[in-house]
Amino acid sequence: MEIGFESLGVPANGAVVIGVTQDRTLLEHGQALDESLGGLLTAAMANSRFTGNEHQTLTVASARGQVVLYGLGDGSKIDAMWCERAGGTIFGELSMSGAEQVTVIFEPHGDDASGIAARAAHLGQGALLKSYRFDKYKTKLEDKDKPSLAKMTIATPEADEATSTFDDLSHVAAGVFLARDLVNEPPITLTPVEFARRCEALGAYGLEVTVLDEPAMEALGMWTLLGVGRGSVAESRLVVMEWKGGAEGEKPLAFVGKGVCFDTGGISLKPAGGMDLMKMDMGGAAVVTGLMRALAGRKAPMNAIGVIGCVVNMPDGDAQVPSDIVTSMSGQTVEILNTDAEGRLVLADALWYTQDKYDPAFMIDLATLTGAMMVALGKSTCGFFSNDDTLSDKLTDAGTAVGERAWRMPLGADYDKLIESDFADMKNVGPREGGAITAACFLQRFVNDKTWAHMDIAGVAWEDKGKPTVTKGGSGWGVRLLDQLVRDGWDAS
Ligand code: BES
Ligand code: MN
Ligand code: ZN
Repeated sequence: MEIGFESLGVPANGAVVIGVTQDRTLLEHGQALDESLGGLLTAAMANSRFTGNEHQTLTVASARGQVVLYGLGDGSKIDAMWCERAGGTIFGELSMSGAEQVTVIFEPHGDDASGIAARAAHLGQGALLKSYRFDKYKTKLEDKDKPSLAKMTIATPEADEATSTFDDLSHVAAGVFLARDLVNEPPITLTPVEFARRCEALGAYGLEVTVLDEPAMEALGMWTLLGVGRGSVAESRLVVMEWKGGAEGEKPLAFVGKGVCFDTGGISLKPAGGMDLMKMDMGGAAVVTGLMRALAGRKAPMNAIGVIGCVVNMPDGDAQVPSDIVTSMSGQTVEILNTDAEGRLVLADALWYTQDKYDPAFMIDLATLTGAMMVALGKSTCGFFSNDDTLSDKLTDAGTAVGERAWRMPLGADYDKLIESDFADMKNVGPREGGAITAACFLQRFVNDKTWAHMDIAGVAWEDKGKPTVTKGGSGWGVRLLDQLVRDGWDAS
């Protein structure tokens, strides 16, 4: 969908959205519109339950086009995130309505004019995020099944500033869309090799992309990653994406993603019910890729590196089996007791390689790692672990700022000892209790004391109902949070 900004005013015709505060009070432009429509809006409100409560909507048909009344409440809570939600809600209200374009009258009221350009831009961002669709495999869609709304114009006092802020934000939306596309793409298409190809295509935005194939990984001794891929005919890949927007010599911020393009569980096979959802098991890698796309698109003034480990976890005559012992690139040995705990094996080598080769200022990994995290925090909060309080606070704050909630979970020697093995340096599973924590402890053994955080996105990577700015399917959760973290800055000297 196209988003544009123009100076404040009500166009002569076409669909419009106007704000209404509590007790059905129209703002200045809304009042003028109501008069020109002979009091239609006042009458419509009087004959409905619409009172102007926050995010309440009432769509009124008129000769000039549809008029959406949008509830502002008392107007005191209208910040950037409020506006994103409003943008998404407005898109949802009108996308299938027949209206092809709409003008949102974004007028200040009371003393809330400060930062209005940024808020108008976020309204556009919310609408854009909600307009995402993945319908490339729907061959029978008729026009009536597709959105009619193709353009949203936001009429606001500071249109130029809103335009440039939105321009910057739209690269972040493009990163979110890329992450969603990657998650939604079925595994028959999105193999590790295809994933790597899509990363290489991001060279167009100025990313330097390097792909390690199996012989290259063998030479590095990445046997925990390679062991997972053994059961699949699909070859494994490790992809490195570098963004050099900062000073030469400034340490990069590193983002590492689990890219299990499909997780059957391997020989420790998962039950059939719901296994289809395991196409999302490359969600961490998708977020890392989307983030790199966003940073390059908006030309972030810093150095970043994205590393993704891409494999397919399948049962096969050649697949690894419980009791196997493999040696990771770090030299540490791992006893495989459950082949379904494969994500940590992929990340072990990816994390070790990242700190060893690129000496980053910090490493953040993202992974759909454990069902246990979903049991702990449900589907609307991401649990994370870190060995650094400053990084933890920054992650929490970045999440709050963009409406992606992240909650710190504990690490500790008492949990770590639960993955001691009788035969190797560690085993790849702990007891059922605290499963997300022992998984994090496992990863911590491969970060070599680097500043690090692990985000277990198992619960948030997939949206099953739809939210104001998130469509069903892959959510792209984390692209905006990490983009915000980068914006907030990190001393990388
Ligand atoms: N990919 C799964 C975790 C997962 C489950 C992500 C549900 C998203 C939704 C992971 O590889 C896995 O299978 N984890 C096991 C670990 C167990 C064997 C220790 C799990 O959570 O059951
Ligand atoms: Mn698994
Ligand atoms: Zn998995």
